[in-house]
Amino acid sequence: MRILGIETSADETGVSLIEADGAFGADFSFKTLGNSLASQTETHARFGGIFPNMAAREHQKNLVPLLHSTLEQAGLLHPGSCAHDISGILVRESDLAAALDEFLAHHTRPDIDCIAVTHGPGLEPTLWVGINCAKALASAWRVPLVPVNHMEGHILISAVTNGALSRFSFPLLSLLISGGHTELVLSEEWMRYKLLGQTRDDAVGEAFDKVARLFGLPYPGGPQISRLATELRRRNVAPNISLPRPMIDSDDYDFSFAGLKTAVRRIVEANQPLSENMKKEIALEFENACADVLIAKTMRAIEEYGAETVLIGGGVSANVHIRAHLAETIANYGTGTKLLVPPPELATDNALMIALAGYFRAQKNKYAEPASIRADGTLSLAT
Ligand code: KG4
Ligand code: ZN
Repeated sequence: MRILGIETSADETGVSLIEADGAFGADFSFKTLGNSLASQTETHARFGGIFPNMAAREHQKNLVPLLHSTLEQAGLLHPGSCAHDISGILVRESDLAAALDEFLAHHTRPDIDCIAVTHGPGLEPTLWVGINCAKALASAWRVPLVPVNHMEGHILISAVTNGALSRFSFPLLSLLISGGHTELVLSEEWMRYKLLGQTRDDAVGEAFDKVARLFGLPYPGGPQISRLATELRRRNVAPNISLPRPMIDSDDYDFSFAGLKTAVRRIVEANQPLSENMKKEIALEFENACADVLIAKTMRAIEEYGAETVLIGGGVSANVHIRAHLAETIANYGTGTKLLVPPPELATDNALMIALAGYFRAQKNKYAEPASIRADGTLSLAT
């Protein structure tokens, strides 16, 4: 089965095409036929964060070129025509409508079976651009649509390796850490989720982004802070400052990162102008504090729920220190708990994970009537 995935939940526009076969288990396999991504980080860098309406405009510009490139990579781009009236679907997306009209008028219907599109969680104005694009293509090509939860995409991309499912057993505990989420989620079976805890204020990626902004560094802040921290950690230098580990001992699986960011702000304000070395010390202590809290709660959940597998997903799971610290802590725990991590380049948003989740949703017959698919900014994984 060939699935086209479309992702526009935040600031990355993604279009991917996979060919997948088999059910959950050893007979599942997939191939990436095409994968394209346009990052808007440069657009948003100078503002320190994402402006939804600006991001929606960028998605409108990016989608058709990415579709073109994905189908070309897959060898499925053929001259011809599949002209179709999409004006009733892309009412608010006039730039996208013009580009898509032109595209459909010059290319034949590609041989695909289904379109998977992110319908939440994320920024609603940007989600709608992807959803309406998917609806227009589904109508022109007469293929079914399957709506996908973005967070499920992050989980599934961590659960595959080399075109197959990684071997693991349940219960599966997922630590989802991104720019919008910090969640611990338990699965007793494939694609069923129970939310154990989540952040009460800022997401951990958001905290990285805000600390970077305090340092005058561009968005996204995670890789910037990580680079500064790594320079000192590599030289075995201990930071001279200390930051709190919010909620590390609380009797639940919730998180809080707003206080940590405020503590950093106070230090930054008290040490103006901030030296390069001070930035590195703060970055190191901040990264350690985030890792300590995330890992302490994850270990407690492993113990309480007898998790046999731990999975990390979302943009912050690209963080080298968090990965290494978690791997070491799990190894020392000594029960043979398996750790699943995404390839770093697929930890941040992409459409491959959406196509993958779309395949497994399609397997469960979770197609939806186009008219019923709506953007849901706070869509939850728990059913
Ligand atoms: O999953 P993602 O691409 O988008 C959302 O769904 O939010 O995550 C983006 C977040 C940003 O906050 C970014 O700063 C953070 O992931 N991030 C990192 C790293 N790479 C990306 N945070 C810490 N260390 C990194 N290496
Ligand atoms: Zn994400």
